[in-house]
Amino acid sequence: MKRTFPAAACLLLAAAPLAHADRADIKARQQIMKEWAGINKQMGRMIKSAQADKFPQTDFARLAAELKQTADEPWKHFTAGTQRRSDALETVWTQPAAFQAAVKDFTSAVNALDAAARSGGGLNAVKVPYEKMSQSCKACHKQFKD
Ligand code: HEC
Repeated sequence: MKRTFPAAACLLLAAAPLAHADRADIKARQQIMKEWAGINKQMGRMIKSAQADKFPQTDFARLAAELKQTADEPWKHFTAGTQRRSDALETVWTQPAAFQAAVKDFTSAVNALDAAARSGGGLNAVKVPYEKMSQSCKACHKQFKD
């Protein structure tokens, strides 16, 4: 049976479509963030559940390296005009210096965590750097994410 949805059709017409490239940018940055959320969670679990002598140092270091490798990836996808239909706040574009500062905080926290994870210092070496890295995600979200 053929049906029509006039109300839905009106809505579609009312919302100007995003360009294909814009959708791709939104998807790309959200995808990376999702992967980071997974990494962050795994790291948190390792720290919480580990005894100091049984800390999975190699696995943790692998996750830290993964984070470091992708730490620069999302930012180029915050292209002009891609706020709509995303959870990014307008402040990303209206306060670019503050956004860059949050990016920088995150990047240095990730670098410090990666260095700590490779130091061979085990659980004690990564605890504080992990907290700092995790806090830098939250600090940015507070200012720039819905
Ligand atoms: C410099 C700012 C900044 C940093 C640092 C940052 N994020 Fe985000 N994050 C954002 C913004 C802005 C969005 C909204 C993106 C959108 O909807 O287009 C977002 C979205 C997300 C999302 C939702 C993705 C989705 O599916 O819509 C998750 C999950 C997330 N971030 C996790 C993290 C984690 C974990 C970290 C740290 C390891 C992190 N983010 C670091 C700014 C940041």
